[in-house]
Amino acid sequence: MTKQSLHDLAVAEKRVFMRVDFNVPLDEDGGVLDDRRIRMALPSIEHVLKHGGRLVLASHLGRPSGKGFEPAFSLRPAADCLRSLLGKKHPVHFVEDCVGGKVEQSVDSLAGGEVLVLENLRFHPGEKSNDPEFADSLSRLADVYVNDAFGTAHRSHASMVGMPEKMLDRPRVAGLLLMKELDYLSTAIEEAESPFYAVLGGAKVSDKLGAINHLLERVDAIFVGGAMAYTFLKATDHAVGTSLVEDDMIDTARSLLQKAEAKGKAIHLPMDHQCSGSIEDVQHVRACEIGIPPDLMGLDIGPETGMDWKKRLSKAKTIVWNGPMGVFEKPPFDAGSRQVAEGIAQATKHHGTTVVGGGETAAALETFGLSERISHVSTGGGASLKMLEGITFKSVDLLDDA
Ligand code: 3PG
Repeated sequence: MTKQSLHDLAVAEKRVFMRVDFNVPLDEDGGVLDDRRIRMALPSIEHVLKHGGRLVLASHLGRPSGKGFEPAFSLRPAADCLRSLLGKKHPVHFVEDCVGGKVEQSVDSLAGGEVLVLENLRFHPGEKSNDPEFADSLSRLADVYVNDAFGTAHRSHASMVGMPEKMLDRPRVAGLLLMKELDYLSTAIEEAESPFYAVLGGAKVSDKLGAINHLLERVDAIFVGGAMAYTFLKATDHAVGTSLVEDDMIDTARSLLQKAEAKGKAIHLPMDHQCSGSIEDVQHVRACEIGIPPDLMGLDIGPETGMDWKKRLSKAKTIVWNGPMGVFEKPPFDAGSRQVAEGIAQATKHHGTTVVGGGETAAALETFGLSERISHVSTGGGASLKMLEGITFKSVDLLDDA
């Protein structure tokens, strides 16, 4: 990694503005449902506090309208969650806005070793539109800038891009989570040890097109599951019943298969499927051969495919996985994703480098209790997919070179 990190920065008594990604799901009572993104930011947070920095944390949460405060998108629950994670040693304060006189006063009265969590950046329209005045107001809160928001790295928003652009006279470094994410994702893809496999799933070929094109140049094979597999299967004239298909992507899928063949790379498609009449009907699930009967839809890769892929994946030296193999939230359609996850966990055990990205895929791993058996589970959804597409981020370019 060619950027400076928090380890290169003196933070004592400084106002350390850290952009984090606390875009976490909330439960019905407004509590944090999954605190993983907050926990993953703790190494950076604790580093700054231990070294006496006055820490200002800024994030977005959800997609509010940008017309001011909306209770459902407040970052207060995230601040409460952080407070309980940090314990009494480091006071966590919260302020009901992210720019302006009151916020500046709250930042000024912060002591070294204390945290101030700002309210949701996206309550201001200037965050998403990367408004220079809004970026300027944010930069007034900072002696130094730390970007630890890997999940948001692909967004050119004010706190990600406009603000570091306004701070060219001040240190701008990568947080420890951002460093780890960039290291894992770029090393896994660009310096992969062979056999290198990509496992791609999810609903749409169109979402993964850039990743398939970029990865085809690098991997030994791609395993395609999830609903996107049915578009590929239809492109190869297999019957797909009532499965979800992107008809306008069939020609593209066909050319991707031809491109792979020309390069001598395999795109593995499921050879059997778990099928039912509908997603809701879990009573009449049956395994189908490669051709799906007209009244059924494929909702997961089938048992033979799962077994075969698990075995192949377990022997890989490098794996990137993005997108579940089926409707994993609804057993028994979780079986295929579970087998793939187990194969990847075995590869990790045999010293392979395994990287999983995407919110749903990370959630599937959590459900299976296998997150700890993967080299790196990314906190990024869109951002990790962009990296699989080979895209670099302006938000990262703006940080100080090492
Ligand atoms: C994410 O959850 O992928 C990031 O927090 C970015 O959120 P966004 O897609 O609303 O910009």
